[in-house]
Amino acid sequence: MYEGDIASVLISEDQIRDKTAELAAAIAEKFPEGQPEGDLLLVGVLKGAIFFMTDLARALPIPTQMEFMAVSSYGSSTSSSGVVRILKDLDKDIAGRHVLIVEDIIDSGLTLSWLMRNLSTRNPASLSVVTLLRKPEATKIDVDVEWVGFDIPNEFVVGYGLDYAERYRDLPYIGTLEPHVYGG
Ligand code: PRP
Ligand code: MN
Ligand code: MG
Repeated sequence: MYEGDIASVLISEDQIRDKTAELAAAIAEKFPEGQPEGDLLLVGVLKGAIFFMTDLARALPIPTQMEFMAVSSYGSSTSSSGVVRILKDLDKDIAGRHVLIVEDIIDSGLTLSWLMRNLSTRNPASLSVVTLLRKPEATKIDVDVEWVGFDIPNEFVVGYGLDYAERYRDLPYIGTLEPHVYGG
């Protein structure tokens, strides 16, 4: 599949599975079953987070519920405004709930900063973040990311939800792309 497009496997299927189990155990420790606020509410950020979200939910030894948000950022990558538009909002009210934002990757951190600000105005009981991947730039943002799977170098990566022009999301691992893919 995608013959000749993938330069290297950065994180294998096995590594993703092991890390997901590790993260799930840590999350379940903080949110044990049977809390008065109800089941932990996973909020997945479409579309990149869907693969991680469904695997994480199945790895978690606690009941969870799922909501999704789709957002799109405005402006150039050099802009630090972090203006984000909601394409699809949550279906349910999150007031009084324990909410866990699930992301595939934090790159500049703008999407997450905005999302944290937005969701915190809805008065959840708690708001925390798990991301499978984090790039160096993201450590500069003022958001406490409680659970990080892998800190990766500043390379463009695809697979396991991450796309280049909507392709490669369906790869089961995280890989880097051959330069000819961008060059055309
Ligand atoms: C990607 C990724 C994160 C976000 C991270 O989503 O899935 O949601 O960018 O970038 P940032 O930290 O610089 O804001 P994208 O907007 O490409 O949409 P997608 O998930 O549908 O691919
Ligand atoms: Mn995304
Ligand atoms: Mg994308």
